[in-house]
Amino acid sequence: MKGVVLAAGLGKNLYPLTLVLNKQLLTVYDKPMIYYPLNTLALAGIKDILLVCAPKDVHIFKRLLGNGSKFNIHLSYTVQKKPLGPVNAFAMAKKFIGDDACALMFGDNIFYGKGLVNKLKIAAKNATKHNKMTMFCYPVKDPKRFGIVQLDKHNNPIKIIEKPKKPKSNLCVTGLYFYPPHVTKHLPKIQLSKRNEYEITSLNNIYVANKQAEAILLTKGYTWFDAGTFESLLKSSQFVGSQRKRSN
Ligand code: DAU
Repeated sequence: MKGVVLAAGLGKNLYPLTLVLNKQLLTVYDKPMIYYPLNTLALAGIKDILLVCAPKDVHIFKRLLGNGSKFNIHLSYTVQKKPLGPVNAFAMAKKFIGDDACALMFGDNIFYGKGLVNKLKIAAKNATKHNKMTMFCYPVKDPKRFGIVQLDKHNNPIKIIEKPKKPKSNLCVTGLYFYPPHVTKHLPKIQLSKRNEYEITSLNNIYVANKQAEAILLTKGYTWFDAGTFESLLKSSQFVGSQRKRSN
């Protein structure tokens, strides 16, 4: 199974911090943000990972992360020329993914929880053995900021709405997705959204409509951050700091 991490995009919610420095290079307590998603994919047992960066940042990521050996992974790089949205960035990984199953993770997402490794392994198996995509869902207080999923009574996804004005649930679809083989065949079908981006929610809704999507709920015992706003960046640093102190 392959892994792709997205680290392009403008990070506008964090201006002026991200005017010069890429969001994924900002500090989360004692490490650059990008370390966290790489570590999460490594925990899932994924060793072959591609990082998608903006052209101006690729040399900085290479200096920081090299070939990935310090994370016990094999890391390669590609660029997204223009920030046209996550699906456009993901499309830059087409050759790398080939016919394999693939996990996609956003470079600003941070996951914590004792049972996480188990859940990651279930998601990987869904993709490689059962031809299903998996989304990880987390209850949030500010659902208008995210992709929000509605589930039926068996926890099957019914529909995901990106940044809903009137959210029908508070269950956010986090930025970690496991796709079965041939995910790239769906990418050309995705249309530009009203926000002028190729949205990940459009891709995931194809799997939902095909009844090929599973939701794993991260509720009790899990913590998740999209560290892409001032408040969540600060909170994620505070949280990681508190975890470090506990384990010392
Ligand atoms: O974090 C979870 C949320 O991430 C989901 O709930 C939403 O459904 C999903 O659309 C996304 O929303 P955001 O508004 O937070 O997306 P953001 O613009 O931060 O982009 C997500 C990641 O993709 C980020 O790590 C940067 C990368 N990216 C983004 C764009 C627009 C790229 O690599 N290229 C791009 O062109």
